[in-house]
Amino acid sequence: MTEDLINKKDKYFPSYLGTNDNLITLLNNTTQILCDWFSKADKNGPLPFDESFKCIMPAENGNSEEDLFSEIESLLNNSFNPVHPGSLAHLDPPPLIFSILGDLIAAGINNNLLAYELSPSVTLLEESLCKWFANKIGFNDFSGGIAASGGTLSNLNALIAARNNAGLDTNPNSVLLVSEDAHSSFVKCMRVMGLDTKNLVRIKTDNQGRMDINDLRKSLDNCSIENKKIFAIVATVGTTVRGAIDPIEEISEICKQRNIWLHIDGSIGGIYAITSIPIEGLNNINQANSITINPQKIIGITKTSSLLLVSNMSTLENTFNTGLPYLSSKENIVNRGEIGIQGSRPAEVIKLWLGLRFLGLNGIENILKSSIKRKDFFIKKINKNKFDIYSGPLHIVSFLPKKLQPKDSDAWTQTKVNELINNNFMLSRPKFKGKYFLRVVMGNYNTKESHIEELLRLLDA
Ligand SMILES: Cc1ncc(COP(=O)(O)O)c(C=O)c1O
Repeated sequence: MTEDLINKKDKYFPSYLGTNDNLITLLNNTTQILCDWFSKADKNGPLPFDESFKCIMPAENGNSEEDLFSEIESLLNNSFNPVHPGSLAHLDPPPLIFSILGDLIAAGINNNLLAYELSPSVTLLEESLCKWFANKIGFNDFSGGIAASGGTLSNLNALIAARNNAGLDTNPNSVLLVSEDAHSSFVKCMRVMGLDTKNLVRIKTDNQGRMDINDLRKSLDNCSIENKKIFAIVATVGTTVRGAIDPIEEISEICKQRNIWLHIDGSIGGIYAITSIPIEGLNNINQANSITINPQKIIGITKTSSLLLVSNMSTLENTFNTGLPYLSSKENIVNRGEIGIQGSRPAEVIKLWLGLRFLGLNGIENILKSSIKRKDFFIKKINKNKFDIYSGPLHIVSFLPKKLQPKDSDAWTQTKVNELINNNFMLSRPKFKGKYFLRVVMGNYNTKESHIEELLRLLDA
């Protein structure tokens, strides 16, 4: 064994002997590189990428610390930078500082949310935080929730529980109703659940992008005639392209009358419901059986951070509990691996908890209000003679030049996206109802009015 390797072997893991000076040096170096990257955002733009970037794979002998730091730097210099004020393309805001720390701690403790015995404090933390959220949105004492790695998985947890609850687990006639503007994750969920696209019934939206209640009623009647068995209706709080909110009150009444599970996909807008920001319809979300909330999408909890909240925890327990024969359990404590799809899971809840604790309710509200203020400023200032605007009560705006033909929207948006990125603004170009749009997501706390004015100047040019 070479001397190098002998020395290195002592540095593989943190030391239980308390001799962690080397680790402290490495963490300090890493912090320095990360903070330098944040500082350089303005210079490098939101999406720097060097075509010569190489992904170097592990070799027979491990690399030196110097090599790895240089590769970390190269990785960062070729990464999307959410901190840049022109990063306005997606629901990927700058990371909250205390969430960054939470990720570090979660990695350091390396606990496993699969079971209480592998994560005693964090199991209680996740359970308590889900209950806190559930109470905040107006669920009662039977409620709770489970974290998952992203909104898609939270939606999937909900739909599997809904289907199980309806006793339709193996029924090929079981259907799900969603609006035509609902997120594509529902198509994926259907496939995972062994169902077909014909099991996904799409309800029309109105001119504000909200589910059309008359069309919902018509579709429900058609389902009865065709002997389709509905296991859930999904209402979206914040659609992906324009941030529309489905009419929750009316949908929930229909669900109650017909005894249908109501799932709310609040991946984008659900978090607003824990604040006092007045957004129409949000006070009714406690009428749902389940709701997805994705704190990663607006308030800057680092990815991934998503919660599924349910009005009755027994629905998750009945659906996912298989017994974990190789793990012990404790009376009155549910192993978190038994109430959702995922087994082993990191302690992601720490970064959510630290982020929320640091912000407090006022901080959360401040971030959310500021995103709406930026959206309002953008809409107020955009040239309305030139653009058609598609937006809702949240912080997302899609737009297109008036009278642009659908066939021209592809080329126009592509040209604009390229022009804008060359000027350090990153916007997205969703395809929606047969056309491409430009979309701006105003969730970036670093974006000031002066940046928005510059963006509008470039768009109008
Ligand atoms: C409304 C909505 N639901 C669900 C999702 C899926 O979330 P994730 O990407 O975290 O899986 C998204 C993603 O943007 C979304 O906009």
